[in-house]
Amino acid sequence: MFASGAGSNFEALARAAGRGELGGDIVALLCDQPGAPVIERAARLGVESLVLASPRHRTRLDDERPWLDALRARHVDVLLLAGFMRRLHATLLEPYANRILNIHPSLLPAFPGLDAIGQALRAGVPATGCTVHMVEPALDSGPILAQAEVTLRPGEPLAALEARVHEAEHLLYPDTVRRFLTEPWRVEGRWVRFGEGPGLTAARAGAAHG
Ligand code: GRF
Repeated sequence: MFASGAGSNFEALARAAGRGELGGDIVALLCDQPGAPVIERAARLGVESLVLASPRHRTRLDDERPWLDALRARHVDVLLLAGFMRRLHATLLEPYANRILNIHPSLLPAFPGLDAIGQALRAGVPATGCTVHMVEPALDSGPILAQAEVTLRPGEPLAALEARVHEAEHLLYPDTVRRFLTEPWRVEGRWVRFGEGPGLTAARAGAAHG
């Protein structure tokens, strides 16, 4: 898993894995921020942490190669991002094409980018939510696997809405990862359709031949 901050989604996924509900294990936490609370959570949950700081840039990794080497050494199959504050580039995106997921706190394509929950609140939309999507070079794009809707309540403060969106994330992300790892799926335009298709097998083969 890749995370930079609080790590509540990391914890939800690691706990689901511990209960045997994820269809796989969380092998390691990769974090770009020494001192991030997610590192403490990983220690508590018995997950190895790799902290590879990237001091030269703010929004990208200085060099993705050591990250790729660390993943390969551990035979990591799928990358899960949650609150990872750097863009990924070809060194990681190409070998893991269609095997990198992220969670974003809005109903994409609405409100991409930072402060998505605040954006939704200020826009006065009746509902927002969260989205699990595949990671592509462009920000918060990539085929969508699943979304959960959260209805706004009149006059609700930002913190309360944030708490409800995060609660929805902690259910949606583990459930979607389980489906992604264990069910058939295929990419159809901007969506990942479950129920038929080669699923992960084809994504792995793509990496082997690409
Ligand atoms: C979540 O809201 C996620 O959607 C966004 O960043 C936040 C991470 O929270 N990408 P946490 O670190 O998992 O608590």
